[in-house]
Amino acid sequence: MELSAGTITRVNGPLVEVAGGCDLRVAELVTVGSRQLAGEVLSLAGESATVQVYEETSGLRPREAVLATGRPLSAELGPGLLGGVFDGMLRRLQDAGPWLEPGALRGALDPERRWRFTPSVRPGEQVEPGAVLGTVPETDAITYRALVPHELAGTIETIADEGEVTVGETIATVAGHEITLAHTWPVRRPRPAAGRLSSGRPLITGQRVVDLLFPLCQGSTAGVPGGFGTGKTLLLQQIAKWCDADVIVYVGCGERGNELAELLEDFAAIEDPRSGQRLMDRTVTIVNTSNMPLLAREASIYTGVTVAEHYRDMGYDAVVIADSTSRWAEALRESAARTEELPAEEGYPPELSSTLAAFYERAGRFQTLAGAQASVTILGAVSPPGGDLAEPVTAHTRRFVRAVWSLDRQLAYARHHPAISWTDSSSRDAESLAAFKAAEGDDGWAQRRREALQLLMDADRIESIAQLTGVESLPSPERVALICARLLREGVLQQSALSLNDRYCAPAKQAALLALVLDINRALLASANGGTAIERIEALDLSDVARVRDECPADDVDAVTRLGAEIQSRIARPR
Ligand SMILES: Nc1ncnc2c1ncn2[C@@H]1O[C@H](COP(=O)(O)OP(=O)(O)OP(=O)(O)O)[C@@H](O)[C@H]1O
Ligand SMILES: [Mg+2]
Repeated sequence: MELSAGTITRVNGPLVEVAGGCDLRVAELVTVGSRQLAGEVLSLAGESATVQVYEETSGLRPREAVLATGRPLSAELGPGLLGGVFDGMLRRLQDAGPWLEPGALRGALDPERRWRFTPSVRPGEQVEPGAVLGTVPETDAITYRALVPHELAGTIETIADEGEVTVGETIATVAGHEITLAHTWPVRRPRPAAGRLSSGRPLITGQRVVDLLFPLCQGSTAGVPGGFGTGKTLLLQQIAKWCDADVIVYVGCGERGNELAELLEDFAAIEDPRSGQRLMDRTVTIVNTSNMPLLAREASIYTGVTVAEHYRDMGYDAVVIADSTSRWAEALRESAARTEELPAEEGYPPELSSTLAAFYERAGRFQTLAGAQASVTILGAVSPPGGDLAEPVTAHTRRFVRAVWSLDRQLAYARHHPAISWTDSSSRDAESLAAFKAAEGDDGWAQRRREALQLLMDADRIESIAQLTGVESLPSPERVALICARLLREGVLQQSALSLNDRYCAPAKQAALLALVLDINRALLASANGGTAIERIEALDLSDVARVRDECPADDVDAVTRLGAEIQSRIARPR
């Protein structure tokens, strides 16, 4: 339903002033001008309104009409999102090519496609909010569950038989309400759940430096700050490909179009290691590349979280990846610069901090309305201008996320990938994960993590001394620390996204590799303390560790164990 609301009086970049807008509400979706561009009401003042337009505004003229829609900016949800590519308002891009014709009200779902529906309830049954009405095989990987809407409960009056339906056809009538597979949801409003749960389950990313040193729980949040070219996109894409979540929502926000094209090609080619199905079958991609209108980015992260919450409501673990939140914040700044609002830090609007907090707040492990456990995890890249890690987006993000994977320029230059700094990164989930690992039978997990971090820090300190005094002047135990920290970096922490065996590493092999290095450290220290000449220790060839890491399969723990025994006997060999 479109209601006449007013006419354009002024076009100011992506912002449009509207006269006669007294019937509009803040955050209401409107269509602007004869091309019906999508816009959202930013503010109201008496008879006039300011609207932010999510599309290129060139060509808009004063006196063109602005129409109200009576609803906030919303996304159309239903089966058919997985495998699709959408813009920030969840309008399908794939069929339209990289460019979408302007026009606000195009849907996300294919109205003609027929889905095989299997009912889960019978007429006369009583249902509560969130109950499963029936299922649809959305992709080979994910079964779509059609749920009773959150505000509805009562008797099933009708339910469709097993058979084919479109997203617009009625599948059930509950307490007088007709329910279809498709529904819309206002993207800025979190979808309801029964409650928050504390999470102790790891999100296994298959990336050793993350899983071993700065791990994350399912339902948690992580920020990835890093300067230009330090590996943010590659790290997040590795996680998208290999982590053990059910559904991935990838929001490419203001990044390069060709990167996204490559990503989509990759996803289409990669087999999901767990199901053997295509990775695309569990991925929703939302893009606002740098060549698309700036303000469209603003909506895209909310759209992304809404889609993830939708699958969470069905009982799935979903991960939202936003690359990059800095490009998204630029849209906020652009908007603030054009309104009379007094900017705060570096031109960002004063609500930057609360907006970021509210975004990350939508992550969590939840009890769904139907009583299942499910999660939304949010990972956001932060690309500070000029690599300045003190700027506002980075600083606020650090406060709101559970883990920080800070990418270090020097490590990246030295081709140590992923270039996650061990001094500047952190994880508030490490403690609860240690308890989870212990309950699973690995009670050495926390101790190994502590030892590894200690070794890295010790070596950093020793190296800075060695730069002044020369390595030769150091006592033997410190020289052993240098050898072993290097082994830890090269044999465990480095992990090439391009290595077929090593781009993903199973948790058991991760643990075995770290234990191997720490055991070598202990054995070498004992040997040095026992009188072995440090030169002999330094001459030991330990390159096998990196070889086993790289050349043996991702879950080959035996190879690591065998190598450990062999190196130990090498160290113990009589002088
Ligand atoms: N895990 C990895 N394995 C191998 N190479 C890597 C890895 N991580 C990063 N690189 C290298 O670093 C380069 C830059 O990475 P990437 O594009 O992810 O950086 P970025 O931080 O996203 O850059 P930008 O600031 O431009 O967005 C890659 O092209 C690749 O050569
Ligand atoms: Mg990038």
